[in-house]
Amino acid sequence: MTEPSEQAKPADAALMAADAARAAEAPLLAVEGVSVRLGGREVLHDVSFAVGAGQFTGLIGSNGAGKTTLLRVILGLTAADSGTVRLAAANGAGHHTGQRARVGYVPQKFAFDSDMPMRARDLVALGIDAQRLGIALPSRRRRERVEQMLAAVDALAFADTRIGSLSGGEQQRVLIAHALISRPQLLLLDEPLANLDLASAQGVVALLARICAEQGIAVLISAHEMNPLLPVLDRIVYLAHGRAASGTTQEVVRADVLSRLYGRHVDVLHVHGRVLVVAGAGDDSDLEGHEGGVSGGSHSGGAEVVL
Ligand SMILES: Nc1ncnc2c1ncn2[C@@H]1O[C@H](COP(=O)(O)OP(=O)(O)O)[C@@H](O)[C@H]1O
Ligand SMILES: [Mg+2]
Repeated sequence: MTEPSEQAKPADAALMAADAARAAEAPLLAVEGVSVRLGGREVLHDVSFAVGAGQFTGLIGSNGAGKTTLLRVILGLTAADSGTVRLAAANGAGHHTGQRARVGYVPQKFAFDSDMPMRARDLVALGIDAQRLGIALPSRRRRERVEQMLAAVDALAFADTRIGSLSGGEQQRVLIAHALISRPQLLLLDEPLANLDLASAQGVVALLARICAEQGIAVLISAHEMNPLLPVLDRIVYLAHGRAASGTTQEVVRADVLSRLYGRHVDVLHVHGRVLVVAGAGDDSDLEGHEGGVSGGSHSGGAEVVL
């Protein structure tokens, strides 16, 4: 078995050059050489990638890979120790306008108390106020915007239901409407599919892809399971142990690229239309299994599904 080397191979160099060339085309978001230390540990190491206007990008990695930290750095909520994040708004012709791009965010953890007296439509309306810094929209236009947004995420049927009584998939649709109502150019979502069954996850992904294509919004969505996203992804940023590989799915989800990223041999298997990233038996206790029902992340020997 060949040991993956730390050194960049020619294939990586070509991949990075191709990525850099695309990044040069007026990206909406450019992350360059970002490293972050938290609690004395390096959580992100030299992470670089770009997201162009209207692109749908998956931020894929196991638990603890650094996904939430990276999204927080992009939002300015966590400071990078080195590297830069640029958010540059572009006009319809793809040229930078000199302004900072507007960013919407759906954070990872939301637990709504079922008694909280807030309806779905109230939460969506709050998304307007969050961005307008006290400049209120006239109430009729405001109601229209909320109604349009609820319709866009297919939430009219439960618009007057308390948030806490909705299903996980319905709550995600309302949270997406909340984030989109301020008309961001980039939407960040942190594991919105994590607690959904497969059908709900596919519904949320299809809805996101449709709205964002219609409105030209770029999406950066984190997930520890890439399969529900594969049909709609333009690009992947794959994180392992705080290091990233980025490109198209075909460029990144490959045994050679991922083996170098993980620092151990992994295989990429295509099984019944799904992609599984599998590591051989090893003693790297940082790796966790993440395929529902396939592996529980045991290290007792044999192959292990990583993602
Ligand atoms: N505030 C913090 N202080 C120390 N370590 C942290 C902090 N936040 C996150 N980490 C660590 O950074 C790593 C990446 O975390 P995170 O970005 O939440 O990963 P992910 O979202 O991919 O699960 C984890 O090992 C986590 O324990
Ligand atoms: Mg996270």
